[in-house]
Amino acid sequence: MNPALAILRKIVLSARRFRTAITFKARFGFDPPPHWSDLSGYESLLSVILKNRLCELEGDFVEIGAFLGGGTYKLCKLLQIRAPAKKVYSIDIFAASTDRTACALGDTMESIYRKALRGRDQLSVFREVTRDCGNLICIVGDSARVELPAKKISFGYVDGNHDPAYVRGDFSLIWSRLTPGGIIAFDDYGFDLPDVTRTIDDIVKEHGTQIARTWKKGWKTFFIQKAAS
Ligand SMILES: C[S@@+](CC[C@H](N)C(=O)[O-])C[C@H]1O[C@@H](n2cnc3c(N)ncnc32)[C@H](O)[C@@H]1O
Repeated sequence: MNPALAILRKIVLSARRFRTAITFKARFGFDPPPHWSDLSGYESLLSVILKNRLCELEGDFVEIGAFLGGGTYKLCKLLQIRAPAKKVYSIDIFAASTDRTACALGDTMESIYRKALRGRDQLSVFREVTRDCGNLICIVGDSARVELPAKKISFGYVDGNHDPAYVRGDFSLIWSRLTPGGIIAFDDYGFDLPDVTRTIDDIVKEHGTQIARTWKKGWKTFFIQKAAS
């Protein structure tokens, strides 16, 4: 990674960690998981979920790309408190080498994941971080091939394989079951994976009549809300 960008990233992550430590429980009603277990910073997703009352909408939550499980933990705990009957379906292949894409500055996904893993086994860490999540259904496998038992979805998050074919496939898996008024979010929009950004832009154009609104939050999270039927 470019050294200036690496320093900037470190500063932003430290600021986020500090803010989370101080405000997380007051905002969401539970303690956060270890900071290293959530790459994207799921509190920005939790805020959108609460603001749009998605816990009250028909359907479960689906996450594609869980990695170490800190974000999964946050989705599960929020639902446990707000809608105990609902489930979080989390899909991940738990194999760092399967995503062959690289970001604009050249780092491969595999090298980024291996650095964060520090020699640990991904699925073991995930299981440990999410061990108290009784409402979690973890689906281990390729998102293009798995069976997703959720019939209706109120919130979905796409952060799995960054190849455009997967971004499209993951979108379709969630969109076809997304309740009107429900929201799908994507990581990596408008940042260092231009193919992901382009694919999301194409998806928005192609599904324009079914979409109520779109917006970007923070550095790289993109949201699409499905139109009411
Ligand atoms: C960027 S990480 C997810 C990070 C997580 N959302 C977070 O913010 O902490 C991407 C994840 O997608 C998973 N993945 C890669 N290819 C996949 C595939 N074909 N099907 C399912 N998961 C996949 C990887 O194992 C990895 O855990």
